Amino acid sequence: MNYYFITGSSRGIGAAIANELLKDEYNYIIGFSRTNLIKHERFEHISFDLRDLDSVKNYRFINIFDAKSITLVNNSGMLGNIRHLGEIDNQSIIDVFNVNTIAPFLLMNNFIRDYKNFKGNKLIVNISSGAGRHPIESWSGYCASKSALDMLSEVANLEQKKLNRNPVKVLSIAPGIVDTQMQSEIRGVDKVDFGQVETFIKYKEENTLASTEVTAKKLVEILKNADKYAKTTMDIRELEI
Ligand SMILES: NC(=O)c1ccc[n+]([C@@H]2O[C@H](COP(=O)([O-])OP(=O)(O)OC[C@H]3O[C@@H](n4cnc5c(N)ncnc54)[C@H](OP(=O)(O)O)[C@@H]3O)[C@@H](O)[C@H]2O)c1
Repeated sequence: MNYYFITGSSRGIGAAIANELLKDEYNYIIGFSRTNLIKHERFEHISFDLRDLDSVKNYRFINIFDAKSITLVNNSGMLGNIRHLGEIDNQSIIDVFNVNTIAPFLLMNNFIRDYKNFKGNKLIVNISSGAGRHPIESWSGYCASKSALDMLSEVANLEQKKLNRNPVKVLSIAPGIVDTQMQSEIRGVDKVDFGQVETFIKYKEENTLASTEVTAKKLVEILKNADKYAKTTMDIRELEI
């Protein structure tokens, strides 16, 4: 069996990846999120609030005896307050970094430690964002936390490539602009706080957002063929899938 641990499997891109993977009878999914809608014999939900770092810190990945491959997809993400610095609620800054950077960092650390002796294929895919690579006004926490996730992935890959046994492959993938609750949250921000809000409203009106289903199909192709990709940091829009 191929085992996939996916954070943020309750909706949006994470739910679509889980549903796409469930089409293959040799895949088993463990989803982490605060809520859950997926019911399937090969899907297990673990209720997790990734802002609760003590729980994440102490999480041990389970022993798996029949695994061909084990993959961690750090997909959970949040935007936090969309406002200029000086006007952001401080708790939002802490939450954004905890969910987007610190929790994925802890899960990567635990995954690499707990599966050190596992000899099958091991993969970590971090769902990043173009916003981690280009600054966007009013998105400081989101941009900076995703940028840190990219660098974390680069360092992890560098370290893993030096191992001569059982390395973990690490990818950090920007999924493009996808029609999820996160996008509707962006469109709902007051123009006073986010000058570019009309651009995002237009994306929706002009139907330029990617669907979660198409995005998940592309991501699953990458998950299945991870060795094909030499670069750690990628943007789905630049790949021919
Ligand atoms: N949509 C886009 O255009 C876009 C573009 C670039 C990057 N991304 C990235 O893609 C990923 C998925 O985003 P999406 O668009 O699918 O967003 P979404 O529809 O808002 O879904 C976010 C997911 O993250 C989970 N999550 C949020 N806070 C959490 C917490 N405290 N603990 C555990 N899980 C939490 C949610 O689960 P619960 O609420 O059930 O906990 C949900 O499953 C994110 O990392 C996002 O940054 C999205």
